[in-house]
Amino acid sequence: MAEVIIVENKEAAGALVAAEIVALIDGRPDAVLGLATGSTPLPVYEALRPLVADRDVSQVRGFALDEYVGIDPAHPESYRSVITREVVEPLGLDPQRIHVPNGAEETIPHAGEDYEQAIAAAGGVDLQILGIGTDGHIGFNEPGSSFASRTRVKTLTEQTRIDNARFFDSIDDVPMHCITQGLGTILAARHLVLLAFGESKAAAVAAAVEGPLSASLPGSAIQLHPHATVVVDEAAASQLAQADYYRYTFANKPAWQGI
Ligand code: F6R
Repeated sequence: MAEVIIVENKEAAGALVAAEIVALIDGRPDAVLGLATGSTPLPVYEALRPLVADRDVSQVRGFALDEYVGIDPAHPESYRSVITREVVEPLGLDPQRIHVPNGAEETIPHAGEDYEQAIAAAGGVDLQILGIGTDGHIGFNEPGSSFASRTRVKTLTEQTRIDNARFFDSIDDVPMHCITQGLGTILAARHLVLLAFGESKAAAVAAAVEGPLSASLPGSAIQLHPHATVVVDEAAASQLAQADYYRYTFANKPAWQGI
């Protein structure tokens, strides 16, 4: 099962995960990062800034999880723009090495396959950062997504569009379709790090970590992964039946193990 680490706040989560990422980069300068968008990973990207300031990150490679279909890449809320603004520019990464699925309608029939090939050509993802939707999605694999799925087009649920309306002028502006790494694509990454903060994520986190394996609970796919780490604050951990055991385990974890 996943290792669950319950932290005091987002900043502590960001520091913990950022330390793991720089350790990875120190050992492998061309490490391949799986990049999530949305609000959850921002503390990680913020914590990384001072840590990479005196490191050479010019070789680091990255693959975003998903993109909206049909959105202008120059739109401030396209995931291409978000990754550029929140990750590539502040961390000083090479934009040529950071990939985002292509949501252009003209090329969408083969965009999923193209993305899979690019990930394979990079040798796969070393560390995949994940958030989780209130409906349990990871990437944009909405309930019902196959655990074997690869990068493809999905229809966003009404709930996800409501949740993401905060980034747009109105819910009508939230695209209906997305292109997302599949659950099978995500599971192929060598280390999964799923973060979640706040009460609104508590049910989805409990379902992902402790619920039955089910395509209806896409986050539960992480239970199939041999190295999955879940970093949550107290509110997001509030529905975990084994929370005390997770605290006990982490408090007694040997320092040499890392996360
Ligand atoms: C983002 C992504 C989504 C988000 C999820 C949570 O690339 O794939 O799974 O991680 O929708 O979004 P936030 O973090 O905004 O609550």
